[in-house]
Amino acid sequence: MRYVTVASCGSCLPSHVLSNHDLERFLETTHEWIHSRTGINERRIAGANEDNLHLSLEASRDALRGSSLRGEDIDLTIVATTTCDRMVPALACSVQRELGTRGPAFDINAACSGFTYAVVVALHLMRGGIASRALVVGTETLTRIIDWTDRSTCVLFGDGAGAVILEPCDRGEGILSYSLGAWGEGDKLIFAEGGGARMMASLSGNLDGREESMATYLPFLSHAWNDRYPYLQMDGREVYKFAVRKLCETVEDLCRQAAVNLGEVRLIVPHQANYRIIQAAAQRLGIPLECFHLNLDRFANTSAASIPIALEEAVRWGKISPGDLVILVGFGAGLTWGGILIRWTGCK
Ligand code: ACO
Repeated sequence: MRYVTVASCGSCLPSHVLSNHDLERFLETTHEWIHSRTGINERRIAGANEDNLHLSLEASRDALRGSSLRGEDIDLTIVATTTCDRMVPALACSVQRELGTRGPAFDINAACSGFTYAVVVALHLMRGGIASRALVVGTETLTRIIDWTDRSTCVLFGDGAGAVILEPCDRGEGILSYSLGAWGEGDKLIFAEGGGARMMASLSGNLDGREESMATYLPFLSHAWNDRYPYLQMDGREVYKFAVRKLCETVEDLCRQAAVNLGEVRLIVPHQANYRIIQAAAQRLGIPLECFHLNLDRFANTSAASIPIALEEAVRWGKISPGDLVILVGFGAGLTWGGILIRWTGCK
């Protein structure tokens, strides 16, 4: 069996900062409410030209700079995202075009678990001999699909991208175990109707009064979203309970599979959804909060991008050394969850 490790990490965060105090100016909310319920102080908002392609490329270039590799050395490109710039084609193909990577390129949507799913898919394509080195990106512009008048969701999210390069390593190092899952019964707990083929944007162009006759022959036109609600919706309380439970179960499963004690794990890099979720999970697992790397106070929930952004930061801050055991763990819409346990081999 081939072993695979994280050889390099990169990230890109938009420069525009939106603080809780800024939100107070146009929303019925307070810094105190947001901070005490979530731990978030501020988030980054992608500017008009900072689409997912831009964020992905910057994060990927950062990861490439940290390795001695160039685009053509990579023969698999996977992008995890919930907010792809376009329905067709996959963002990963545009990333490939710009970076000159080779081999298969495709996107994965498993919401906030997407990055862990993408790493596991890459691992198996590498183990199967389909690829020798992979670029895995998590990127989101979630602030484009939320309703900025809905205080229950819009305060929670931010934009950004993170990337890793995976390459072969020695036996017993790199990824030692993984755990992926989904509970489809929960598909109504976090969702956004807009942007998919079921609810299109609406008719556009010069229709010259033909709307009615077109709607007779194209019945799906009545589903245009101009009179529906296309934005992200979430049952926060249900997701909260699920998140705490699945985070703990996934961490325990990873340790069991790799036959290591949780106490031996140096750092857990969780999906950055809510400080209270991590606090409750730490308590339930019986480990100090310091075992988790958190940056949600500054970047909020960036869904599929949150784990690679936090991982890059933890590495840059010197919180992980070669030989350390590191866990990446995510949970989110679907409902989905995913985790990876890595014996760190050193990286930028
Ligand atoms: N400012 C002020 N008040 C608010 C705000 C706000 N921004 N938002 C909601 N409130 C009010 C509500 O209206 C409600 O008022 P009421 O009691 O008068 O009805 C009250 O605050 C409590 O609202 P709840 O929604 O019950 O608040 P809760 O304590 O559950 O916190 C939160 C909400 C932060 C969303 C929490 O449930 C949570 O973090 N859930 C998990 C989210 C998550 O992990 N998502 C991950 C996946 S996301 C993805 O996959 C894209």
